[in-house]
Amino acid sequence: MNAARARIGHWLDERLSLSAVREVAGHKTVPVHRYMPLYYFGGMTLFFFLVQVMTGILLMLYYRPSAEEAFESVEFIMTTVPFGWLVRSIHSWSANLMVFFAFAHMATVYFLKAYRPPRELTWITGCLLLFLAMGFGFSGYLLPWNQLAFFATKVGTDIAGSVPFIGEWLLRFLRGGERVTGGTLSRFYGWHVAILPALTVLVLAGHLLFVQLHGMSVPPKVEREGRQGRPMKFFPHFALRELFGWTLALGVLAALAALFPWELGEKADPFAPAYKDIRPEWYFMFMFQSLKLVPGGEIAGIEYEAIPILLFGVAGLLLVLVPFLDRGVVRRGRSPVFTAVGIAALVYMVAFTAWGYDSLLPVWVVLATGVLILILSLGTRRAGGDKS
Ligand code: HEM
Repeated sequence: MNAARARIGHWLDERLSLSAVREVAGHKTVPVHRYMPLYYFGGMTLFFFLVQVMTGILLMLYYRPSAEEAFESVEFIMTTVPFGWLVRSIHSWSANLMVFFAFAHMATVYFLKAYRPPRELTWITGCLLLFLAMGFGFSGYLLPWNQLAFFATKVGTDIAGSVPFIGEWLLRFLRGGERVTGGTLSRFYGWHVAILPALTVLVLAGHLLFVQLHGMSVPPKVEREGRQGRPMKFFPHFALRELFGWTLALGVLAALAALFPWELGEKADPFAPAYKDIRPEWYFMFMFQSLKLVPGGEIAGIEYEAIPILLFGVAGLLLVLVPFLDRGVVRRGRSPVFTAVGIAALVYMVAFTAWGYDSLLPVWVVLATGVLILILSLGTRRAGGDKS
């Protein structure tokens, strides 16, 4: 038995150079310091992405992307397909958790200044992944073809329509015509199950490759203070910790999906009066709420609404360019202005989300995440923060 295993190992090694991979992996280490728990956020986002791929493939086996059948096929999944309700609920919960962790991961790498050279491309591919994740959310929202999804997509694409110069083209491109119809649904399905996954796999491969090439960064503050512990071996120590986190995440995800199954609502009726409680996914809420404050009217042929839309576009572009704009962190190892802008942006996003929902829940979620990070950091300092 052992001889057979050794022979198979040797055969595979000759073809796949496994020992070379093992050699490289054996040398991979992770810096140990008090911000170390933040290194798990990227991996957590990856975990939820993998759950999305697996549950999405299962949903595709029964889902039908047409105005006549979409709602009924989701109803069939939830009532008749064995465990269909659970798979759909996991897909929906995991989508939200993936976006949440992508945001949290971005915030942490931003405040730890992990975008410093040579990690500019890691940051840029990360931004693209966040935009792709939001695209997944926007396109997936319409797929059950229920009232809320239909009217939210109508409003969302209307907003895209008020972008100056290209708005009209953008609206038709998104909707596949003048109005939100079955044609829009097929189009969104194409984006959701083919175009976005293909792009995400490509960009994600780049992101993870850059992380491997450069290793994990050490925050400038920790570098200055020289308060690092002995680096931890990635295999098996960090990988096992990561796996432990993923197991916990699976437990939380399963509990949420089973205890709070995702609702389906009523079938979309394009001729019904506009749904009264139209709201987008929570991660678009801060923009939606900001646009609600803009009065109707236009200036020099440009609608007032177009101005904040353009500003959001500019903010997105500035976000991508952060590694090239923040020169202070390169020269002096600190950039308090960028930290302050980051805090202000975070406060604005959380406050407007809370306002949009008329609830303090978003504030509690962010505070709870902060407290969890703090507890994990204190634990890490005790467990591995000494210089021995
Ligand atoms: C689907 C979304 C994403 C996935 C699956 C992902 C995955 C990962 C993983 C596994 C790591 C290594 C562990 C870690 O440092 O947490 C990482 C590192 C990194 N990610 Fe992401 N990421 C995503 C989105 C983002 C976003 C939105 C940004 C920022 C715009 C970003 C920027 C970075 C940077 C700068 C690093 C290097 C961190 C360091 O060296 O300390 N990522 N990512």
